[in-house]
Amino acid sequence: MKILGIETSCDETAASLCEVKGGNFKIISNIVSSQINIHKKYGGVVPEVAARAHAEVVYDVVGRALGKIKIKTIDLIAVTYGPGLVTSLRVGVLAAQAIAGLADISLVKVNHTEAHLLSPFLNNKRIGFPALGLIVSGGHTELVLMKDFGKYKIIGETRDDAVGEAFDKVAKMLNLGYPGGPIISQLAIRQGAEPLNLKLPRPMLNSKDFDFSFSGLKTATLYLAKKMSKTELKKMTPAICKEFQNAVVDVLVKKTIYAAKKYNIKSILVGGGVSANKELRNALEKLDYKVYLPNLEYTGDNASMIAFAGWKKYKRAKKNEVFKINASPNL
Ligand code: KG4
Ligand code: ZN
Repeated sequence: MKILGIETSCDETAASLCEVKGGNFKIISNIVSSQINIHKKYGGVVPEVAARAHAEVVYDVVGRALGKIKIKTIDLIAVTYGPGLVTSLRVGVLAAQAIAGLADISLVKVNHTEAHLLSPFLNNKRIGFPALGLIVSGGHTELVLMKDFGKYKIIGETRDDAVGEAFDKVAKMLNLGYPGGPIISQLAIRQGAEPLNLKLPRPMLNSKDFDFSFSGLKTATLYLAKKMSKTELKKMTPAICKEFQNAVVDVLVKKTIYAAKKYNIKSILVGGGVSANKELRNALEKLDYKVYLPNLEYTGDNASMIAFAGWKKYKRAKKNEVFKINASPNL
């Protein structure tokens, strides 16, 4: 069975062709057209600009994903319908409905956050259940119990900013550019093993629940930076980035261990843009659990994870949703 995935929830237009043979899921193409260069100058994603840019490239991206494969040979289209930016989501949903409707292909709608959760399956075949999922993206920070595909329970989430959002906002405050995660992690690497001489809080580190909070950490970083002169701030920026990243990693890892122990899980799955972070990956891989991370190309937004989540959902529901999709930004 051939599956076409389409993703346009934020600032990446993505399409992926995948094939399932004998129960094995294989990625044939994974095309991602990023809008980062367009949004960079605004310091963040501008929704209307994003939607227009998606509309301009979506058919080309789908065409590149298909390559020489004829659309008529596709058995299933999977498209993100939320959560995300409503105008961006609509472009992907409309494109998918048009292609599916015209070529008479089954269509299934996919929850973007579920797809991030399942992204480690793209490069790991056997993952034991029950599993604990840590979703860390620009829009979400969640701990999820997973009994099986389609059987999820959110046990903890952020009470304010998502972790990727905190990386982006701190980078903006320090005038480092957008998106903040990769820039902050690069500067933290530059800091190396030098002593830091500064300390930021680890919000909710010892709270007896699985929730997170990153807005106070962001504000504490701002106050720390404001106390410094321009020259001092320039000199100290790599140290601030490293301490900010350390604080984030400490909280994420401690809460993950706490949940893993409490629920007696077999595996830990990690997904979302922030799962590209090297420090976080290293810290999680050291745990006494089987930890499954996506390959770097599947950490950020991509359509292969949408195709995978769509395939699993279609197998469960066997439902063709061609005309039953509304973009759902707050999913
Ligand atoms: O999953 P994603 O591509 O989009 C959403 O669904 O939100 O995540 C994007 C987020 C951004 O906030 C970006 O700064 C963050 O992932 N990110 C990182 C790294 N690479 C991307 N955060 C920390 N370290 C990284 N290396
Ligand atoms: Zn995402």
